[in-house]
Amino acid sequence: MSNILIGVSGGIAAYKIPILCRKFIQAGDSVKVILTENAAKFVTPLTLETLTKNRVYLDDFLTDISPRDIEHIDLAEWADIFIIAPATANTIAKMACGIADNLLTSTYLAYKTEKPLFICPAMNTNMYQNPATVDNLNKIAQRGVNIISPIEGELACKDVGIGKMQEPEIIFEAVKDKLSACNVLNGLKVIVTAGPTIEDIDPVRYISNRSSGKMGYAIAEMAKKMGADVTLISGPSNLKTSLNVTKVKSAINMLNVLKQKVEDCDILIMAAAVADYRVENISDIKIKKSSNELHLKLIKNPDILFELSKVKREGQVFVGFAAESNDLEENAVLKLKMKNLDMIVANDIKREDIAFDSDYNEVIVFNKKGSKLTIKKDKKEVIAEKILKEIKAYING
Ligand SMILES: Cc1cc2nc3c(=O)[nH]c(=O)nc-3n(C[C@H](O)[C@H](O)[C@H](O)COP(=O)(O)O)c2cc1C
Repeated sequence: MSNILIGVSGGIAAYKIPILCRKFIQAGDSVKVILTENAAKFVTPLTLETLTKNRVYLDDFLTDISPRDIEHIDLAEWADIFIIAPATANTIAKMACGIADNLLTSTYLAYKTEKPLFICPAMNTNMYQNPATVDNLNKIAQRGVNIISPIEGELACKDVGIGKMQEPEIIFEAVKDKLSACNVLNGLKVIVTAGPTIEDIDPVRYISNRSSGKMGYAIAEMAKKMGADVTLISGPSNLKTSLNVTKVKSAINMLNVLKQKVEDCDILIMAAAVADYRVENISDIKIKKSSNELHLKLIKNPDILFELSKVKREGQVFVGFAAESNDLEENAVLKLKMKNLDMIVANDIKREDIAFDSDYNEVIVFNKKGSKLTIKKDKKEVIAEKILKEIKAYING
């Protein structure tokens, strides 16, 4: 049983919210509702109060409760799950900008970002496809808000097109499905490595690779959302995350940090693009461009997964990545065996539309029991969730 907070903004689909409330109440959840001033013109507090057996929350400055509670803080703390449905273009824009000028948007800001939040946009097709709304939705999706996208259909304005809010039954199922996925990694300690490593030539120059870290960061964030205790170890990257990150620079740094931490983890996911070679003699001073040629001797870096496989405990799951430009499947399966991995995630780095620095990826996951799963092109967050579910299925046998 969960505490469900439903924020209703002023769209015509607000008339469906009593049915959504009923679905959660029938499932044994407690429901409280916030109405914006405009939403209260579409659906009455009385209907919602009767169904939820809770007071309906209108704008803070409109209610006169004594002694005055700080409702946006209390509601944000009370809720295990926050659903904003329907979410108007206006409320979505405020969420994207952090504007908190009513109880619903103040509660949104006060609600801890690691707790599940869903929004169900509903509006006229042109409003939905307006670049301002598209940008606003992308912004909040990137901050981890789950968007239950509207569908095509006949809209209240009689237009036919995309913008119709999903039916309450579908919203209910989508929320419950997401939440059951949220707990699948509960109690598991996961280490994720991400980003490139860099290998110094001198105090100014270095050798590195094109990894942005996006895939590894997406996996780490998704693992956290799915209930894992996550340690993210990252090579140099400008990506922002709310997770604590242990920053490392070179392959040797990364190996040393992992050697200290790996014993304690249940799952190690090596998404970092570790440099295969380093400069043998790093110059302490900037190398002058006095001659026409500069010869660097590169020596092999340790293979991190191979090194760690020597100390791998029974029951630990090690997952590697294979970024390949040719013979993707053959090379990935060979690596899986050579490095004694449980699983390998292969991606084709030749494709311009996925992989390096892209928000999208497409991968094939092989495990040592012989299974092969192709995960079609999608946002890296979605790919991350599918990889993690595949790891969990492997653990469950
Ligand atoms: C009859 C009517 C229906 C509306 N339906 C929608 C809608 O479905 N989606 C939407 O984004 N805005 C809709 N609007 C516009 C919003 O009500 C308006 O942008 C308002 O400022 C939203 O306020 P709120 O986000 O604080 O609730 C509608 C307005 C009216 C008068």
